[in-house]
Amino acid sequence: MAFKTPPLAALLLTLLTTLTPALALKRSAGCGTTPKLITTASTTIPLNITANAKARDFFVRLPENYNRDQPHRLVLTLHALSGTAEQVIAGTGGYIPWYGLPPLAAATAANDTSANTIFVAPNGLNNGWANQGGEDVTFLRAVVAAVEADLCVDADRRFATGFSYGGAMSYALACALGGEIRAVAALSGNPQISGCAGGSGAVAYYGQHGVGDTVLPITGGREMRDRFLRNNGCAKVDAKDVAEPVSGSGKRVKTVFAGCKEDKPVVWVAFDGPHTPTPKDAGAAESWVPGETWEFFKQFK
Ligand SMILES: *[C@@H]1O[C@H](CO)[C@@H](O)[C@H](O)[C@H]1NC(C)=O
Ligand SMILES: *[C@@H]1O[C@H](CO)[C@@H](O)[C@H](O)[C@H]1NC(C)=O
Repeated sequence: MAFKTPPLAALLLTLLTTLTPALALKRSAGCGTTPKLITTASTTIPLNITANAKARDFFVRLPENYNRDQPHRLVLTLHALSGTAEQVIAGTGGYIPWYGLPPLAAATAANDTSANTIFVAPNGLNNGWANQGGEDVTFLRAVVAAVEADLCVDADRRFATGFSYGGAMSYALACALGGEIRAVAALSGNPQISGCAGGSGAVAYYGQHGVGDTVLPITGGREMRDRFLRNNGCAKVDAKDVAEPVSGSGKRVKTVFAGCKEDKPVVWVAFDGPHTPTPKDAGAAESWVPGETWEFFKQFK
């Protein structure tokens, strides 16, 4: 029995070709397969799942040019208290459809196919995200697993966003999932209502909050942000040195924090406004929120 030692160059080449794709993308099990569950009708016909012995449902939006061989981004869009996934999808009840993100993702994808994005709108229990005993984290984990088993997703580019209770749940996901989620955008959320089990992992974090919010006051928004400033190793900053607009100024102030670990940025937008998912600049017809959220998510290659 004689083993032939391969020449070093050939060995290196083999190592490189096997390592390079793995470093760039974490391809989900659904890559290369024909979807069995999710279709273009999944924006109107809910997908059903059981989590913690409770029947739950969610909807999925495929990009127009879904390609089963290409790992897609995955974005969870979470409704607010008393809201539904159906409203998030339709853009009723105060929402912009899917938080306004699909057209922005499609525009980026026109030049960069890695920006192609699958959107998921799940329904909370009792139209909220109380996350009792972590049951909503369990549910959303199961949703992600079901989508990734059926579709081609880059498991290194999972994101979540939501307003109010949906912002609180995005924060709870960042707390609980750590490295399993790349970034979250919490719009006018709160650190208590969905909780923060775990809570020590570094996750790229975008937060925004109205200085005039009387439903979930901005103090909660600052508290969520400050957790990820610590977790992400950002430079220490005194809360009073983080600029916020004066009530009545019609302004918003964006802070990109310095010194955070690579790939773990923290961004904060304080705006002069109330508890709303769609604040606008004075005189503007459209909200700046989709643009800020997508700019934050887009950077993760
Ligand atoms: C999920 O359940 C609902 C309600 O029973 C049903 O209308 C729908 O068709 C189910 N979805 C799938 C994909 O079977
Ligand atoms: C796409 O790329 C072209 C050519 O490089 C450029 O002119 C165009 O502005 C880009 N579009 C977007 C949306 O980035």
